[in-house]
Amino acid sequence: MVKVAILGYGTVGSGVYEIIHDNDFTEQALNPIKITHILDIRDFPEHPEKDIFTKNFDDILNDDEVYCVAETMGGLHPAYEFTKSLLEKGKNVVTSNKELVATYGPELLAIAKDKNVNYLFEASVGGGIPIIKPMCSSLMSNKIDKIVGILNGTTNFILTEMINKNKDFDEALKNAQENGYAERNPSADIEGHDACRKLAILSSIAWGNFVDYRDIVTEGITAISLEDVKYADKLGYVIKLIGFAEKKQKIFARVSPMFVSKKYPLAGVESVFNAIVVKGNYLGTSMFYGRGAGKFPTASAVVADIIESVRHINAKKAYIEWKPSEPGYMLDINESVCKYFVKCTNSREQIDSLFDNAEFADGVVENETGFITTQMTEGDFKEKIKSLNVTGFIRVLEA
Ligand code: NDP
Ligand code: HSE
Repeated sequence: MVKVAILGYGTVGSGVYEIIHDNDFTEQALNPIKITHILDIRDFPEHPEKDIFTKNFDDILNDDEVYCVAETMGGLHPAYEFTKSLLEKGKNVVTSNKELVATYGPELLAIAKDKNVNYLFEASVGGGIPIIKPMCSSLMSNKIDKIVGILNGTTNFILTEMINKNKDFDEALKNAQENGYAERNPSADIEGHDACRKLAILSSIAWGNFVDYRDIVTEGITAISLEDVKYADKLGYVIKLIGFAEKKQKIFARVSPMFVSKKYPLAGVESVFNAIVVKGNYLGTSMFYGRGAGKFPTASAVVADIIESVRHINAKKAYIEWKPSEPGYMLDINESVCKYFVKCTNSREQIDSLFDNAEFADGVVENETGFITTQMTEGDFKEKIKSLNVTGFIRVLEA
């Protein structure tokens, strides 16, 4: 029997407990698995296994029989200190905590390699969607050119509620929180920081060097209005929060709301679902799709990592290594290229004098014109709109 502990008995941690409690994974893990410790700040006096709860982390750290620990408490501290000391003690750690992986990943992965233990984080990106393992193994034969994804369940849920049910932003956010999708501080979701950390993790895996999330230009969805949704619809698009990363000479990565062409596969990804389009040089384009947040989808990925770790209990571990990136590894946003949707109060003549072949959407908002530009660098675009009275712009993702 292999002993496993859980740090944090919230949405994800309780899901991990229930999946392991309700199933026998002996065949998959080649060993019986038992949850022997759960660390949480709160008391759970009604829990059928109340005796396995502890408030003392040392009970887990110092139990030499605890082989694998699921860190599902979230946040940076004390999750970092706990994870580091567990790995240093030679224990395997699996996590759903993308903030921790995106911040301390290189150091924690290096300790795991040194100690020949796993530090696995499938649940940190895309909730229940298998994406980390496929990128680390199934796509190894490919050079990854591009990653485009809907990486946050809360914002996709909010946008879908706004688009399909005409709900206002605050009501939709409240529903996302009630469903357990949102972060403890939901500004991480709606300001795009959560998607940014996930994009940093995927980019680091794709290109081997650590992509620091602080180097990724990030915008959230708080400025998106129902009028924007109407403009998008009229022009043949839907609005999504998109994580976009590609590597040419340099890496370019950005998280922002985008007009997504209704013909692009991500346009049909709704509610809490996430999807990640990965373009490899031999595979071409493939899309990974599923529930991006929520108790059981996320816990299923954490439990799969526990099983993986237990299954290879005596083996040399396959490790991930993120080397530091060279200074200047990231392309400046002003050199990135796309089309732009623009709202302004200027006349069509003025717009036509600046932008060739603009595509217009009239009649959405009184005394306002919406249009889509042709492709250009962000630097050129920002220079051109200086002479317009712009009330907002959103980047465009074509099919
Ligand atoms: P919750 O807030 O529901 O759960 C966290 C639990 O950990 C709470 O019970 C909390 O207790 C406990 N906790 C926090 N700090 C400590 C501490 N120092 N010692 C002991 N217990 C502690 O969060 P989630 O389950 O939603 O998320 C957990 C992690 O998984 C986060 O990193 C999140 O980003 C990630 N994640 C979440 C998903 C989701 O759908 N919810 C999906 C994918 C990833 P208390 O409540 O009393 O503070
Ligand atoms: N808050 C996150 C989301 C949880 O909504 O996507 C899953 O990582």
